[in-house]
Amino acid sequence: MYTLLRSILFCFPPEAVHHLSMNMLRFACRIGFIRKMMARHFQAKGVQPYQLWNLTFPNRVGLAAGFDKNAAYLRELETLGFGSVEIGTVTPLPQPGNDQPRVFRLPKDKGLINRMGFNNEGVKAAAERLRAYRGHGSKLIIGGNIGKNKVTPNEEAWKDYEICFRELADCVDYFVVNVSSPNTPGLRALQEKESLRQILTHLQVINNERQQPLPLLLKIAPDLGNAELDDVADLALEIKLDGLVVSNTTISREGLTTDAEKVKAMGAGGLSGAPVRQRSTEVLKYIISKTQSRIPVIASGGIFTAADAKEKIDAGACLVQVWTGFIYEGPAIAKKIATSI
Ligand SMILES: Cc1cc2nc3c(=O)[nH]c(=O)nc-3n(C[C@H](O)[C@H](O)[C@H](O)COP(=O)(O)O)c2cc1C
Repeated sequence: MYTLLRSILFCFPPEAVHHLSMNMLRFACRIGFIRKMMARHFQAKGVQPYQLWNLTFPNRVGLAAGFDKNAAYLRELETLGFGSVEIGTVTPLPQPGNDQPRVFRLPKDKGLINRMGFNNEGVKAAAERLRAYRGHGSKLIIGGNIGKNKVTPNEEAWKDYEICFRELADCVDYFVVNVSSPNTPGLRALQEKESLRQILTHLQVINNERQQPLPLLLKIAPDLGNAELDDVADLALEIKLDGLVVSNTTISREGLTTDAEKVKAMGAGGLSGAPVRQRSTEVLKYIISKTQSRIPVIASGGIFTAADAKEKIDAGACLVQVWTGFIYEGPAIAKKIATSI
C-alpha cells in the first residue's frame, strides 16, 4: 500500500511532499476519533518502555533531528508511534537555510542528499510550541537538537549553544549538541577536541546549576577518522558526557549505484539512508569499544528495518532513530521496528 503511495509522492519535489504530507496528517489528527484510530493502529503493542537517563522512553525508536525542526508536528509523530522525537536543529535566530532545491532523492540507493542549512524558525518559536505541547500530558520523549546560526563565527559558537540551551531547558527531556552537519560552513571544525571541550563544558556548567540537570549528548559525523573518534571518546569520558548520537549524514559519495553525473548535479550536502548505514555502524562500534560502553549511544544512520535496528543494538546502541527510512518505508516504521527489537 505505502509502496504505491510512495511512487506517487516521489513524482513531486521532496520538500513539498514533506510539508503536504505532514499537513494532511495534522488535519487528520485534528479529528479526535481519526487520531485515536491511527494511534491504535500505529502504536507498538506489548513493548516494554525503555529506561535511560531517568527517562522512560515508550519504545526505543525515535525520529532523528531535522524532520520536525520547529517542533510543529509532535502530536502527529506521537500518533505514528515514535517513542521520541528530536526537534531541531534549532538556532538562536530564525534563518531561511540554503536556496531550494536542497533535498534530493536517490531511490536506487534508498538515500537522500540534503543541504538544508539549518532552516528553522528560531529557538523561541520551538520553545513556545513545546511548552504548549508539554501541557497535554504526553509521554513522548523530546530531544532538543541545538546548533549555531550561519552568521555566528565559530569562536562565538558557544554563545549560540548557550542561548538555545537556556531557551529549551524547561521544555525538552535531553539535549543534543550538533556540530556535525555538513551544511553550515565551518561547523564541523567544531568537532575538534578543544572546541568541543569549550562548548560542552560551558553547557555542563549551566546545566549543573539546574535542580535537575538534563542529559547532554553530542552528535558526530560518520566522516571522522579514528584519531578524531579517539578524541571524541576521550573527551566524552573525561567530561562525563551523558551520551552520543552516532551519526549524522556523510559527505562521502562512495559506493552509490545512482548515475555519478546525476549525483554530481545534485551538488553538496549530507548523504543519508542506506548508503550511510555501514559506515555509521562502524563508527558506532568503534566508539562503543573506545568508551567500553560507558557512554550511552543513540544510533542514527540507514535504519529502515528491524534487522537494521538490531544491527545497531547488537553493536551497543541503546536507542535508534530513523529519518530517511521513514520516507522509504512509510508511517508504520516505528511500530514495525519497535515491536521487533
Ligand atoms: C533532510 C534532512 C535534514 C536533516 N536535518 C538535520 C538537522 O537539522 N540536524 C541534525 O542533527 N541532523 C539532521 N539530519 C540528519 C538526520 O538526523 C540523521 O542523523 C541522518 O539523516 C542519518 O539517518 P538516516 O540515514 O536514518 O536518515 C537531517 C537529515 C535529512 C535527510
